[in-house]
Amino acid sequence: MKRRTTTRRSSLLVALVATGSLVLSACGGGGDGGSTDGEGGTAAAGGGDASEVQVMTWWAQGSEKAGLEALVEVFNEQHPDTEFVNAALAGGAGSQAKQKLQADLQAGNPPDSFQAHAGAELQDYIDAGQIEDVSALYDEFGLTDVFPDTLMERLTNDGKIYSIPSNIHRSNVVWVNPAVLEEVGIDPSTPPADLDAWMADMQKVADAGKTPVSLGMDWTQTQLLENVLLAELGAEGYNGLWNGDTDWAGGEVNSALTKFGKIVEWSNEDRDGLDWEPALQKVMAGDAAYNVMGDWAVAAYDAQEMTAPDDYAYWPVPGTDGVFNFLADSFTMPVGAAHPGGTKAWLDTISSAEGQLAFNKVKGSIPARTDIEASEFPAYQQSAMEDFSSDTIVSSLAHGAAAPVAVLTAVNQAVVKFSQGASDVDTLQSELVSATEPLAG
Ligand code: GAL
Repeated sequence: MKRRTTTRRSSLLVALVATGSLVLSACGGGGDGGSTDGEGGTAAAGGGDASEVQVMTWWAQGSEKAGLEALVEVFNEQHPDTEFVNAALAGGAGSQAKQKLQADLQAGNPPDSFQAHAGAELQDYIDAGQIEDVSALYDEFGLTDVFPDTLMERLTNDGKIYSIPSNIHRSNVVWVNPAVLEEVGIDPSTPPADLDAWMADMQKVADAGKTPVSLGMDWTQTQLLENVLLAELGAEGYNGLWNGDTDWAGGEVNSALTKFGKIVEWSNEDRDGLDWEPALQKVMAGDAAYNVMGDWAVAAYDAQEMTAPDDYAYWPVPGTDGVFNFLADSFTMPVGAAHPGGTKAWLDTISSAEGQLAFNKVKGSIPARTDIEASEFPAYQQSAMEDFSSDTIVSSLAHGAAAPVAVLTAVNQAVVKFSQGASDVDTLQSELVSATEPLAG
């Protein structure tokens, strides 16, 4: 997706094959989830009760639910003796599920596995002793060499690994309504060169009396903010926000926040009541020109049988071309899970080539594994696989890769206060300085 137009580049049927050709039957379903493991195994090794697995995700609605269903279908084939119990709770980015999970974990009543994000988000659960080290399963399932280094770095904590990824998503994508742009004389097939050029186009849309950008609830605003920061600071400056090298109180951040404020002003006023799919729907319906959303958006277009380039266009957020703002869904084995054998079975399926192929085709994401042929996937995923292999990878804030949950929660609060008009740019900046203080420690 290199500042590409929506023309699908069939020549880009990139074979992102790291370790030879894929033999699905040999890769998937290797383990039996401990179902014959009897009493002998420890929880960490996934022995024990495999009669069922209760899995907490936020893939409860629409296109996300369809993705989960595709994965469960493979699970049922691979582990017919383990019942899948769906504990999904709706709310994009885990806006509802994470709170419920927190309460369940604190009450010592964990699900058998839960959706988390690779990266900093896992730290809280590790520090609280709530999730098991699953490094041994990487050996058992043969996963040690199948994930890319950029992902393994974000999964490894003091030499241990506490979750297994099912997929990789990208946060810095703009979804575009071509008809709205054409009506105001903007060519949708040519992405603007940078953030300023994009904002000039937004101004044109606004001058024509239309809504330039659709936005939703808190985390969608934070996701827009992270990509504005990425566009303005570049990958290195953006990375510095998470390791202390970039000053949150500095002039560059202030200027980025000012631009963010302008874009928020151009967005729909009902944003706080909208999850990501209804916000994206405004672009789909022609009620807004642009929406910045992770590439699970492509699954929503697929579900409505809308296709690029006629019905929509997509580009990296202008100013972030060549950078892949990364996040990965990754599944855990909670300490004290009631059915650790079931957990092991689930982790086996979500990491298997067959599971990752079925799931990611529907979900809009790309496989975390590098040994699945790109040509097995639809055009969007092919382009994302190519970009992931060649772009600079940075970590998404809104989706747990860059900062722990407590930092993200504080950022979300500051951002909503700002978008509701209860703070100005300078106040937002000082609140972001406070919100990110724990990162310095
Ligand atoms: C992200 C998650 C994605 C998708 C998205 C919207 O946090 O990683 O898989 O579910 O939220 O809900």
